[in-house]
Amino acid sequence: MTFWNRRKPLDSVMVRHADSALQPTLGWPHLIGLGVGGIVGTGIYTLTGVGAGLAGPAVILSFVVAGLVCACAALAYTEMATMMPMAGSAYTYSYVALGELLAWIVGWTLILEYTVVCSAVAVGWSGYVAGFIQAADWVFPQALLAGPHAGGMTNLPAIVISLAVAGLLAVGTRESATVNLILVIMKLVALATFIALALPAFDAGNFEPFAPYGYGATEVNGTRQGMMAAAAVIFFAFYGFDAVSTAAEEARNPARDLKIGIVGSMLVCTLLYMVVAAAALGSAHYRALADSSEPLAMVMRNLNHPLAATLIGGAAVLALPTVIMAFMYGQSRVFFVMARDGLLPQRLSAIHPRFGTPFLMTLVTGLIVATIAGFLPLKEIAELANAGTLVAFIAVAICMLVMRVRAPDQPRTFRTPLPWIIGPLGMAGCAYLFVSLPFATLWRFFAWNVLGLLVYLLYARRRSLAHAETEL
Ligand code: ALA
Repeated sequence: MTFWNRRKPLDSVMVRHADSALQPTLGWPHLIGLGVGGIVGTGIYTLTGVGAGLAGPAVILSFVVAGLVCACAALAYTEMATMMPMAGSAYTYSYVALGELLAWIVGWTLILEYTVVCSAVAVGWSGYVAGFIQAADWVFPQALLAGPHAGGMTNLPAIVISLAVAGLLAVGTRESATVNLILVIMKLVALATFIALALPAFDAGNFEPFAPYGYGATEVNGTRQGMMAAAAVIFFAFYGFDAVSTAAEEARNPARDLKIGIVGSMLVCTLLYMVVAAAALGSAHYRALADSSEPLAMVMRNLNHPLAATLIGGAAVLALPTVIMAFMYGQSRVFFVMARDGLLPQRLSAIHPRFGTPFLMTLVTGLIVATIAGFLPLKEIAELANAGTLVAFIAVAICMLVMRVRAPDQPRTFRTPLPWIIGPLGMAGCAYLFVSLPFATLWRFFAWNVLGLLVYLLYARRRSLAHAETEL
């Protein structure tokens, strides 16, 4: 058997590795915390404004489209995560269902996705920090609040938070997941406050014109605009539940807890977003939202609720780091599993004897995240993260269908309803969002994967631990 269709046997990923150094310490509250912690973040807090700039009030429909696509993906994810409760998520599923080469592409894509998501959230976080600094009249060099694209030198707050989260994760999973849970609650309370104060100021006049740039993704002044172009960006707000599945190997009762973790967190967030988006777009003009780097706090200030603005800004500042935490955690685990399979250098993912975490890997990730966050604009980073996520979601939907055919009788703790409708719908939706991204993003994504294929052919292929006879 040749390398591209070398597959992992299903049995090997259905049981915990006896020699695994990752400890099963997480229960379902931690997993929902990780899920909601991963989902609610810069997407709703900041990209709502970016999306409004691309689509006008029609960004509300962008939320609906992105939410539906993500819901299909979440169902396929849950089926695969409960069937193969091992770290590695889409990479591991692809290794079993699609073979080593495609698994490599998915794993390489996930590494990019998780890394740039962290950077995007760090930049979104920095926008709220800058709002605080301004509101408090503190003296802080403007050049250190934004990267060169926005006339500054570097985004220092984004760098600092990236490194701080990496440090926290590097010293232990359990502690950081508990802290995460408290901050998630804070983030939800802030959004509830926003809804309660913004909805009474709802003015249907703000919905005129509803779709100033149309419903597609068309090139206007060098950028793609319209409802679908905004959906391709807003999609960022919905994922994060996949970070739960990367924690599978550390779940105490994976079959039950992952199901609750993924589906539960996805439901909570989708409902919340619909209402927050309607409240924001109904209470402020879409251009005002588009021009703000802290749109939710800005709406509160404009509605004369300075205290609520401080509360929401404060919650964003305290809690957005949970998103970075969830994705950085996921990134180091995907890397860990790929290294365990021999595809990446084991030395980089070595488990620290005292902390029990992939210490070095986490710190290296932190440095890369900080570098991207310090110098690049939010919209472009988020779009690149979305490209990676969309490809991973397509792969998971394919894996779900392939396994239905190849191992139909294998017990599944969660079965996607109407798999032959939900699966293809998810794939088509993800593909459509993917091609709605700006061309520059698609090129960057393509370049990352060309690099990945080179690494695979020159390094990973020959070092892979998979054996020819491991076919299911
Ligand atoms: N869904 C996450 C966020 O919005 C990535 O920040």
